[in-house]
Amino acid sequence: MKKSLFVLGIAAVLFVSCGEKKKEEVKKEVETKVETVKEEVKTEVAAVDNIELGKKLFAEKTCATCHQPDAKVIGPSIKEIVKVYAEQKGNIVTFLKGEAEAIVDKDPGQVAIMKANLDGFVKDMSGDELAAVAAYMRSVK
Ligand code: HEC
Repeated sequence: MKKSLFVLGIAAVLFVSCGEKKKEEVKKEVETKVETVKEEVKTEVAAVDNIELGKKLFAEKTCATCHQPDAKVIGPSIKEIVKVYAEQKGNIVTFLKGEAEAIVDKDPGQVAIMKANLDGFVKDMSGDELAAVAAYMRSVK
């Protein structure tokens, strides 16, 4: 919303300062800018929605039982996972799809616990859902 106000502010200034330009031209320019900002806001809202969906899924699909934001419970903490994936340029979605090896905790016993989830119910989640879960994990601060 702030951005829209900002653009409207610019619009007002343009209307006043561009005396030379035809009003129609200026109007068009402003309309284009307003459209651009509207699109930007939409994208931002979509990103936030995605994180909200990911957060919901993370709780509903019991990921949260084994993955706390900060502390290791049964699985590594969300922050630890995100840190290792960032450092090693890994892709959380690829791992969740079962298409990549574990890189955070390679202990066979631990991997087996997580693998049981992947084979059990994670495989039924859609790519969009997995992307939302990954977006949520990365958003945990
Ligand atoms: C029963 C406990 C348990 C549940 C439930 C669980 N995990 Fe895990 N998870 C683990 C354990 C243990 C590991 C450590 C082994 C490993 O890294 O693969 C792990 C590791 C991971 C990793 C890091 C994999 C890597 O590269 O090492 C990700 C990402 C992950 N879990 C995501 C999830 C998501 C998303 C869910 C919910 C859909 C979930 N987990 C549910 C126990 C669990």
